[in-house]
Amino acid sequence: MYTIAPSILSADFAALGEEVRQVIAAGADWIHFDVMDNHYVPNLTIGPAVAAAIKPHCVTADGKPVPLDVHLMVQPVDSLAEAFVEAGADVITFHPDAERHVDRTLQLISDAGCKAGLVLNPAVPLDILEWTIDKLDIILLMSVNPGFGGQSFIDHTLRKIEQTRKLIDASGRDIRLEVDGGIKVDNIAQVASAGADTFVAGSAIFNQPDYRQVIDAMRAELAHVG
Ligand code: DX5
Ligand code: ZN
Repeated sequence: MYTIAPSILSADFAALGEEVRQVIAAGADWIHFDVMDNHYVPNLTIGPAVAAAIKPHCVTADGKPVPLDVHLMVQPVDSLAEAFVEAGADVITFHPDAERHVDRTLQLISDAGCKAGLVLNPAVPLDILEWTIDKLDIILLMSVNPGFGGQSFIDHTLRKIEQTRKLIDASGRDIRLEVDGGIKVDNIAQVASAGADTFVAGSAIFNQPDYRQVIDAMRAELAHVG
């Protein structure tokens, strides 16, 4: 089951509630929420108050909740993770190189009732997964260097997705494999074939006038993947 998670980083920040409703009406499965602190990454975005404000909009027209997928690009992590739990996050992912006690942070997020995950930057190896996989609900592989939307997909991510898929399958656990950065209609099938099941797309969706057309085109590509 494939999940498309539009990143509101490329949405109109002056109309976020409306943008969230529109992209859900266009078929979004999750809302991806990028938190940048101008410390871990060289950019500054939105925080827990904005997450709390958009949370009531994260619902389909027929009342089904749409998960709020919070990607923390912040250092340190723990206090902000707690604030995002309070704000209504359903999924919280963080970068292990941004927090000293990764195992404790994963536990903290899970204990609070959220899905917990790690995010690995393009140059970060998969080693840490060996010692964390039992606590992961999701693994997010960055296919760009974090900090900005609209960058190009880094091709070596495909091999990394394949390796991660093998680790997940070997674990026997139900762990989502999400990929973030440079995903478009013309490469989503390749990313899925490598083993990803959850796709973040910011500029590809929000920079087009018709969100539904892009999401439908992505699903049509995914339908060929098997
Ligand atoms: C980058 C963010 C991404 C970003 C993706 O640091 O984590 O979620 O919004 O944007 P696109 O899809 O434009 O590469
Ligand atoms: Zn992201």
